[in-house]
Amino acid sequence: KVIILDYGSQYTQLIARRIREAGVYSEIHPCTITSEELKALKPQALILSGGPASVTNHEAPALDPQVLDWGLPILGICYGMQLLAHICGGEVVPAQDREYGRAELFITEDCALWEGLVVKEGIKVWMSHGDKVLAPPPGFIVLARTNRVDVAAMADPARKIYALQFHPEVAHTEDGDQILRNFLFRIADLNPNWNMSSFLEEHLARLREEIGENEQVICALSGGVDSTVVAVMLHKAIGHRLHCVLVDNGLLRLGEGEEIVAYLRQHFDLNLHFVQAQDLFLSRLKGVEDPEKKRKIIGHTFIEVFEQEAKALTGIKYLAQGTLYPDVIESISFKGPSAVIKSHHNVGGLPEKMDLALIEPLRELFKDEVRKVAVELGLPDFIVWRHPFPGPALAIRILGEVTQERLNILQQADKIVHNELMASGWYYKVWQGFAVLLPLKTVGVMGDERTYEHVIALRIVDSIDAMTADWTRVPSEILALISNRIINEVKGVNRVVLDISSKPPSTIEWE
Ligand code: XMP
Repeated sequence: KVIILDYGSQYTQLIARRIREAGVYSEIHPCTITSEELKALKPQALILSGGPASVTNHEAPALDPQVLDWGLPILGICYGMQLLAHICGGEVVPAQDREYGRAELFITEDCALWEGLVVKEGIKVWMSHGDKVLAPPPGFIVLARTNRVDVAAMADPARKIYALQFHPEVAHTEDGDQILRNFLFRIADLNPNWNMSSFLEEHLARLREEIGENEQVICALSGGVDSTVVAVMLHKAIGHRLHCVLVDNGLLRLGEGEEIVAYLRQHFDLNLHFVQAQDLFLSRLKGVEDPEKKRKIIGHTFIEVFEQEAKALTGIKYLAQGTLYPDVIESISFKGPSAVIKSHHNVGGLPEKMDLALIEPLRELFKDEVRKVAVELGLPDFIVWRHPFPGPALAIRILGEVTQERLNILQQADKIVHNELMASGWYYKVWQGFAVLLPLKTVGVMGDERTYEHVIALRIVDSIDAMTADWTRVPSEILALISNRIINEVKGVNRVVLDISSKPPSTIEWE
């Protein structure tokens, strides 16, 4: 595997993804890791990420120089390059002005990194740095320059140490993938054998071993892709010793609980407990308007119901959760190794409360990789590509109090949005698309009568990771159809509006 040491760059996760896309398993670790810990990880190659610090500052994050003597292929990117230059005896100086954005790269020396590049002159690369390497360390040759920096890439080929001032991991760098692949396959001599079927094979065996011959596991199913993959993987690993619990809190999308349960029952012989707790959740939410209070009530009530279900089963030792890699690395990044590990937002608090050990089969994966595992497991599109759905469910899309009447209105409107996005093929193109019930009534006219009824807002967004989002330009005919259907078919609604805000500064959800 390739170990990426994180020096705090915003692109560190991208490096990991590119390496994995090339078929090589990679892991991110904080740059504060000791050399013993690093050795214990048994890396086959090392990548030093970029970062905001300056090596000319004596408190800047460093690298134990003895790591360079291990014979490990090393690639330094941006800050990683400056760090290599610094510890090997080169000269790093603060640049007069920061260079940020596109630059043209000119190759000055042929080497394995440049093999197979489509363009060889004036390669468009992405720069983002303050310091620059003025003179390479002894034993290093300069591989490329730009109009602003003389040392834009350097290497000590005998020691397999390479360094780039630009970012090969970002899409703006032309042929950046090829450069990374050259490092992996021509310099580090790795094999591209990481894929989802090898992941599954290895992890099913690992799960069997970790859980043992007799222990039992419980897992909460939400209907989303993560928890479904966790359940199906564990079912394959330990069969009926897995108990899945799907709590119907009454706030799910119309018919969603039934749909997922029917699918799983039909295709997998899962041990599945479908708990009907609608009345309990609704009664707890009565009179509550504050969104954070709603979240808390739903979270606590879920834990209570789940715990009760688990009590009926004896001898459960493990709780399986769909924690993903971004949740794990967020907490160990360079910003502070002491930061607490973020608990999975939907079932946070459960493991300690119930004294269960955690099993997290997806903790090494990015979301798109989970989807690939789902495909590998044979799960259908409607699960693989299901839109993200918040833990507090429709309660945070009913602004103000959640009542049975308002829930019915939102569920029907949401169903229409869903069906029309599906029918027009837009469902699989957008990140999320849903209806929100606003806490106001407006005037309308139906037949000869004035009406005073609810407003539904449509929220349909594009995003890659939910951190940023923009409203989707859905064709107006489809919006018109959705609006017409909602106003005609959902009793109590006389107006539909479209949310045209981006995140930031807005958010995807309304509460
Ligand atoms: P926002 O509204 O913050 O949402 O732009 C970003 C993503 O997170 C989902 N979301 C939640 N998921 N519990 C969850 O499990 C929550 O309380 C919650 N709030 C928002 C939202 O649907 C979007 O995908």
